[in-house]
Amino acid sequence: MAYRISQLLYPRLTVLITTCDRSGRPDVAAFSFFTPVSFEPKYVAFAVAPQRLTFSNLREVGEFVVNVPTAEMLGKVWVCGSVSGREADKFKLAGLTPVPSVRVKPPRIRECPVQLECTAEWMGEFGDHWLVVGRVVAEHVERAEFEPLLHYSGKRFFKAGERLEVS
Ligand SMILES: Cc1cc2nc3c(=O)[nH]c(=O)nc-3n(C[C@H](O)[C@H](O)[C@H](O)COP(=O)(O)O)c2cc1C
Repeated sequence: MAYRISQLLYPRLTVLITTCDRSGRPDVAAFSFFTPVSFEPKYVAFAVAPQRLTFSNLREVGEFVVNVPTAEMLGKVWVCGSVSGREADKFKLAGLTPVPSVRVKPPRIRECPVQLECTAEWMGEFGDHWLVVGRVVAEHVERAEFEPLLHYSGKRFFKAGERLEVS
């Protein structure tokens, strides 16, 4: 049986990434091919398929915001990850509130307890996705302790379980 890479490398943190086109029209989409890259300065990276509106937006405006949703926001996240911004205004459709960012053009999402404003520093094609590396230029932390939403593959998700610590 052939497994998808998402069925072998899991769970992964789910984030909502906001972008905008050059006219300022914002979009939000779900991403779980996402990782932190550097502590200081803070860098993050994610992989985006080129057919996404998110990708076109990043080509036009090289800025994005990483918004971290809570597990309770699963329904909203699914809307953002199953509909393209080419078809609908997902902020309205999912009931998410855009808030102006401080350093970048795309908005932040009020409902997400952590919002990281980023400038796209590098983009490169790898297979069927493009890797985007971003530098965090402003951070908003309403709460640092919350239940994250973890992705398996497709429609399947996890909630985080027990916390473990090395003694
Ligand atoms: C939980 C979840 C995680 C996802 N992760 C990714 C990802 O890492 N990369 C990607 O290109 N698409 C990913 N997607 C799919 C996009 O979110 C989806 O295609 C979305 O409709 C793109 O919206 P856009 O066209 O407005 O950018 C994911 C979807 C879900 C539900």
